[in-house]
Amino acid sequence: MTTQEEQTRIGLRFPTGFVFGAATSAYQIEGAVDEDGRGVSIWDTFAKTPGRVLNGDNADVAIDHYHRYREDAQIMAELGLSAYRFSVSWPRIQPDGSGRINQKGLDFYKRLTDELRRHGIDPWLTLYHWDLPQALEDRGGWPNRDTAYCFADYAATVHEALKDYVHTFSTVNEPWCTAFLGYASGEHAPGRREPENAIRGAHHLNLAHGLSVQAMGARRVGGCVNLYAITPATASEADQDAARRIDGLQNRFFLDALMTGRYPQDVLDDLGMDLDFIRDGDLATIKAPIDLLLVNYYSRFTVSGAPGGRASAAAAPTDTGSPWVGSEHVSFVNGGRPVTAMGWEIDRGGLLEVLSRVARDYPAIPMVVSENGAAFDDVLEHGRVHDAERVAYLDEHLRACRDAIDAGVPLEGYFAWSLMDNFEWAWGYGKRFGLVHVDFETQRRVLKDSALWYSEIIRQNRRHEQTDS
Ligand code: FCB
Repeated sequence: MTTQEEQTRIGLRFPTGFVFGAATSAYQIEGAVDEDGRGVSIWDTFAKTPGRVLNGDNADVAIDHYHRYREDAQIMAELGLSAYRFSVSWPRIQPDGSGRINQKGLDFYKRLTDELRRHGIDPWLTLYHWDLPQALEDRGGWPNRDTAYCFADYAATVHEALKDYVHTFSTVNEPWCTAFLGYASGEHAPGRREPENAIRGAHHLNLAHGLSVQAMGARRVGGCVNLYAITPATASEADQDAARRIDGLQNRFFLDALMTGRYPQDVLDDLGMDLDFIRDGDLATIKAPIDLLLVNYYSRFTVSGAPGGRASAAAAPTDTGSPWVGSEHVSFVNGGRPVTAMGWEIDRGGLLEVLSRVARDYPAIPMVVSENGAAFDDVLEHGRVHDAERVAYLDEHLRACRDAIDAGVPLEGYFAWSLMDNFEWAWGYGKRFGLVHVDFETQRRVLKDSALWYSEIIRQNRRHEQTDS
């Protein structure tokens, strides 16, 4: 029996209707940056600035999904995916960030979603996965309140054009990353290191979420957060305080705002800054009712407040500052677990912990795991990629999902990150997360063992569903 058969034999059974998906994002896969009237995004500018992306990589071509979406949809169909989570490139729709609509941009997503539906794959649309139109950055970017209103207009436009094709929308992917990696550490576009503006940006991203939920009217819509399990390195007061702070900035700042319409007071106190940009009524807008919460989960942080530690959980590939505004002294400690090629510690227990925590601390909200996966140094040999470590990672985390469901968590689906190898932000093409291997020279796609394994899990579940009904 092969390893793959052994793994699947054990069976990973989910309730009927559980969504098995995979995820990508526009800038990471599409390429075609100058085609059909697309405007410039902050990632185009950033990637072309020396020293910002490893090896000077950019996503001008990426994995050419803009031209190969039919082939890619065919691959998804072969895998048996029930859903595909992708993002819309804002500068394709509004090249100047506001005003003029580029019909050709909307047409691309109509073609894509049509193709998906032809294969019986449910399109899950993310409105913002980090590619802000450069024109809006030139007017101040996310620290500028107007950006949130522009986003709501853009969301309404996309919703109106695609609502007959898509029934699940989500707003901002991982606002933490946009705010804190984009405007505090500078690891991501636009690469600014302005801690106070990172907080403004975080608030305006939350506001953009709420305004766009309102602007889209009747629809199924969710917010998307990246959550971490966080453990103090020791029981010392300093380490416990560090854990509270990082949990506050990473998790509660976004969850509390979206789900309860409040910012955590301890986080505001830690920041110790003038918060006059939070206006009356903003939090009520941010709390606009959503239909589901999309949770991205990768790892656990072990943190210490003792002086002299390392500033970041996993080394950034480029020269960066600290993303932890107001808590820059916190250090990230080796928790002693195996790591992925990103240096991220592998901890399935962390996924169970974050899902259970949301179910416990916030009003009953249906959830999906909207991203989960791992980079490893894959080797393509004789047309195969034996990525046993990725299979093990996905298997463990899917089991954590099932444990969460067994414990009563309203979890409705799982999306592997990523469908295909792609442009991994500041790491360029140096890190591979795909279920599908992509040769970045020839654009040839090859299913890795993890893709075959995942598709077998999906098939087994479908068979059970049919027997049950
Ligand atoms: C997430 C991002 C996604 C990808 C994975 C590895 O934070 O949403 O685009 O980079 O990490």
